[in-house]
Amino acid sequence: MSKKSVKRRTIIDLQAMKASGEKIAVLTAYDYPFARIMDQAGIDVVLVGDSAGSVVAGYDTTLPVTMEEMLYHTRAVARSVSQALVVADMPFLSYQVDLVEARRNAGRLIKDGGAQAIKLEGGVNVAETIRAIVAMDIPVVGHIGLTPQSVHRMGGYRVQGREEAQAKQLLADARAVADAGACAVVLEGIPAKLASEISSLLSIPTIGIGAGVDCDGQVLVIHDILGLCEKYSPKFVKRYADVSGTIRQGIDDYIREVKDGSFPGPEHSF
Ligand code: KIV
Repeated sequence: MSKKSVKRRTIIDLQAMKASGEKIAVLTAYDYPFARIMDQAGIDVVLVGDSAGSVVAGYDTTLPVTMEEMLYHTRAVARSVSQALVVADMPFLSYQVDLVEARRNAGRLIKDGGAQAIKLEGGVNVAETIRAIVAMDIPVVGHIGLTPQSVHRMGGYRVQGREEAQAKQLLADARAVADAGACAVVLEGIPAKLASEISSLLSIPTIGIGAGVDCDGQVLVIHDILGLCEKYSPKFVKRYADVSGTIRQGIDDYIREVKDGSFPGPEHSF
């Protein structure tokens, strides 16, 4: 009996895409319906980002997000995605304290969450952690530059690497993450020229967000590109749809029809 198998993207495919020059398209998702739509549309990677804390839970930062919340979102996404690679974010305090905790939490996102890779923030300072998780055969995506979990050290969400010393540090971070065995690295909020340099330097794919066009791929938050997040809109976001407007219209129509008695009609009644 042959079962038609759907080929899922793997970290090997991402590497091949970098080699061939095919750009890698990544979006965040936090639930079943959004993840299903982007998977069917052919997205390469679905990132279950800890940005869930901001765009789903309404926190000001990603810092309050817990492992349990990430597992919940990851399970919902993993249930609906069959073709894209699912990468789950490790939330703040799930990998910084010690290597044992980091390894256990990374493992939980794979075993209980159903992700195929995890992502964590940091450069030289997390190289040992990346190495320890990779040694468990768990693919790790790095994340350097504007790392939202370091908001208090950075003094806000600022572009990183504009000054020479910072740029040098970012180059060192990129090398450290790649040398530690990461399968890809997110470059967030850094000058396009520096991101281009890092992308040429590294043999692993770079995924940019606010890092210019020369990265090997791009990632954006789904709520941002669909116009679902009205709180703020960074310069690097391009809005591809006005879903808030569509939702508002539908809700307005529903309220009106309930109030004037035109819903439910006979076709909705038993
Ligand atoms: O949490 C997230 O969504 C992210 C991406 C924006 C890179 O880390």
